[in-house]
Amino acid sequence: MTRRKLVAGNWKMNGSLACLDELDGIAAAAAESPGVDVAVAVPFTLIAPAAQRVPALMIGAEDVHEADSGAHTGCVSAGMVREAGARFAIVGHSERRADQGETSHDAWAKAAAARRHGLTVIACCGETEAERNADRAERVVQAQIEKSVPDHADGSWFTLAYEPRWAIGTGRTPTLEDIQSIHAIARAKLRMLVGDAADGIRILYGGSVTGDNAAGILSCPDVDGALVGGASLTAAKFVPIIRAAAAL
Ligand code: PGA
Repeated sequence: MTRRKLVAGNWKMNGSLACLDELDGIAAAAAESPGVDVAVAVPFTLIAPAAQRVPALMIGAEDVHEADSGAHTGCVSAGMVREAGARFAIVGHSERRADQGETSHDAWAKAAAARRHGLTVIACCGETEAERNADRAERVVQAQIEKSVPDHADGSWFTLAYEPRWAIGTGRTPTLEDIQSIHAIARAKLRMLVGDAADGIRILYGGSVTGDNAAGILSCPDVDGALVGGASLTAAKFVPIIRAAAAL
């Protein structure tokens, strides 16, 4: 089964209205790369202006609450971000696991909420450096997938992102062999959970992806795209990653 490559940015807690200029260049590169899906998750406050500015680009949220509404001060629901113009949501990012104590079960509930509101989902998993050094990366990732992937997940709305925590924002990446190996293990785990639908679910790699290493990473057979933090903040850095995906 062929899976279209997805190059997704994650602005994290960065950006401002002035930074939306960058989306123009990103949208132009996306338009020139019809074989690649391009998406950018931005802070909640930028979703509506970003979606209005570049309607052709998939704009998304970096998180959503698992409930549809209610007494959750400071939180934002999937329906709210959908109304603002988001088309997808990231759930289970390791920074939310580390900073907000979120669990794989939370990621599961948030993915289900996003689905209820017509959003597609990028659900994140990945081991810490200590877990990798203890040879536990595979088991950790398998357990995270088992707990966070909703029943009936399929490629029409669900994407997995493998992001080793020690590679995020550090300039370090696993070897291509290690990336492919974990992605193949992740797909095998998905197959146990959702059967043949696993073949249609994209698995992105995330963690220090740049224009320099994207071509190699994206060439791994079970890597279906990239989730990009720092290098998604400017068109100058993000466009080469889109072009690398388009060239495959
Ligand atoms: P990075 O972040 O590309 O800056 O390493 C990736 C991510 O956290 O999604």
